[in-house]
Amino acid sequence: MYAGEREVRPQSPVTVSRLQRMKRDGEKIAALTAYDYSFASVLESAGMDVILVGDSLGMVMQGRETTLPVTVDEIIYHSRCVAAGRQRALLMVDMPFMSYATLDQALANAARLMKEGGAHMVKLEGAGEQAELVSRLTLAGIPVCAHLGLQPQLVHKIGGYKVQGREDAAAQVMFDDARLLQDAGADALLLECVPAALAERISRALRIPVIGIGAGPGCDGQILVLQDMIGITPGRTPKFSRDFMQGQGSVQDAVAAYVQAVKAVSFPAEEHCF
Ligand code: KIV
Repeated sequence: MYAGEREVRPQSPVTVSRLQRMKRDGEKIAALTAYDYSFASVLESAGMDVILVGDSLGMVMQGRETTLPVTVDEIIYHSRCVAAGRQRALLMVDMPFMSYATLDQALANAARLMKEGGAHMVKLEGAGEQAELVSRLTLAGIPVCAHLGLQPQLVHKIGGYKVQGREDAAAQVMFDDARLLQDAGADALLLECVPAALAERISRALRIPVIGIGAGPGCDGQILVLQDMIGITPGRTPKFSRDFMQGQGSVQDAVAAYVQAVKAVSFPAEEHCF
């Protein structure tokens, strides 16, 4: 280093314990999906805390109607592409539909996401019945984000993409499941399309960070699907999303505006909540 030159240290990576510290300190977690190297690099430059390689790639990258056809090989391919562009953000990767139907399958596939895809944490949908699975993955050293509320992999069972936990009984079941999954060892929880009051109650009750999508500002962090957030999703944008390209001159600026809005708790606003 030359005299007078300042050492530029890369920011330390976001880890599971850092996410927990952010929750304790009241710093909101900014998360977004990405599926390739170029967008992962844009998200990195904007200071994104978590990048999710979501199985939403089935819809937004492959043009499928649901997330169900996504395979483990496909998610690993996209995860590798994203891993090449990330430096600081924690890389969360979805377990595709039926890739965790048995404990053995789940262990083998989660290991592949980490060894071949570079995942730091895997995400899986499912309620309290997944507690044993979460505990086995945790014992194997695999960080897990549980996913409650609307579970898109259940679309054919629940008959569409609907807000979950509106009735008192369903809300209590979700609350209890969230606790169960935390106690089983989950390191984070994602809540999708949940009434804001319920999501806030769950976030306050848990030690682990709760990241919401369509779950109101009371969560410990926010996530959106990248294509929704830059306004290029064909058809109607979900109520809970916002087009951050509006008023911005570049994708980089839009992503930076999203991170800033999440940190400042100006997104989501009332019109994005249920
Ligand atoms: O696959 C995905 O993009 C998700 C969203 C809920 C963020 O899981």
